[in-house]
Amino acid sequence: MSAAQARQVRVVEVGPRDGLQNERVFVDTDAKVRFVETLVAAGLRDVEVSSFVHPKAVPQLADAEEVFATIRRVPGVRYSALVPNLRGLERALDCRPDEVAVFTGATDSFVGKNIRMTIAESLERFRPVIPAAVEAGITVRGYVSTAFGCPYEGAVRPEQGISVAERLFEMGCREVSIGDTIGMGTPGAVHDWLRAAAQRLPVERLAMHFHDTRGQALANVLAALEHGVRVFDASAGGLGGCPYAPGASGNLATEDLVYCLHGSGWETGIDLSKLVQASRAIAGQLDHILPGRYFQAERVRGVPELEPVRAGGGTGRT
Ligand code: HMG
Ligand code: MG
Repeated sequence: MSAAQARQVRVVEVGPRDGLQNERVFVDTDAKVRFVETLVAAGLRDVEVSSFVHPKAVPQLADAEEVFATIRRVPGVRYSALVPNLRGLERALDCRPDEVAVFTGATDSFVGKNIRMTIAESLERFRPVIPAAVEAGITVRGYVSTAFGCPYEGAVRPEQGISVAERLFEMGCREVSIGDTIGMGTPGAVHDWLRAAAQRLPVERLAMHFHDTRGQALANVLAALEHGVRVFDASAGGLGGCPYAPGASGNLATEDLVYCLHGSGWETGIDLSKLVQASRAIAGQLDHILPGRYFQAERVRGVPELEPVRAGGGTGRT
């Protein structure tokens, strides 16, 4: 690995899925398509476009087929979607995503509310989904929600999420994203989790998915970087939440993540000012102000973005 590659972080943009699934208003299909396209124009190379879940479970994403049919695809971008079961995969296959994501969690209470099954049942449900996707040339990502805390059970031991992630890797997931669904994690908890995980999981194939409910998400990213994690999920403007996790607020805002990473000498390939334009476009469709801090600072200033302040006091774009 070259020195430049060693400083690369991959950002998985989940705003169009995790962000919009939790909005009160239904964002129209054209606006969703523009959102995905402007995110890609900003340099995002992994974009979670929508979900093939039951439309009654998440009505905000009931137009997944139309969104996939309309987006103009850019080579080299991985366009993905959530699928909870074989029915979801069948719908996804018609839309040719590059990747599908199966999702379960570290606690039975959350998984029960979210997808109406136990953790064990969810893994059984994924058993035929993963090889069928792989056979169709689609890679599979896994999610383990509530890895740091559960809205129904409270604290969660690292072992609970690690054993589920282990199963997802065994079943053929390319990458597993560890979800802090309601933002309970702290840097101390992330260190504990990843120290325990290092014995059993391929850390280079983990992603971390921090919701910023308690303001810990960026600190958690910095902690995870120390353990070799190089993939982070985030949503433009800090959109997001899970309709089945009371208290889940937005994901870590992509702008805040990118600003912090660039200022700390990491490369992402993302253009911050174009990213703010994407957030601005989707913000115009919503009935509230986006929570992302960088986004809000730019909104107030209303002028092109400032370059990140780097170590040693200089500024520089990466
Ligand atoms: P169910 O009702 O138990 O499903 O829902 P079922 O298998 O019993 O089927 C009932 C009916 O639904 C059948 O229709 C199926 O065909 C249909 P009928 O025969 O009665 O006419 N059906 C479907 N229709 C369309 N698409 C499908 C589908 N599946 C079944 N995929 C189910 C179970 C999992 C489907 C439902 O509970 C569901 O869709 N849940 C999704 C919940 C969700 O999307 N939550 C948010 C995403 S997770 C998240 O945000 C966390 C994350 O960000 C990480 C983190 O932050 O931690 C990823
Ligand atoms: Mg989430």
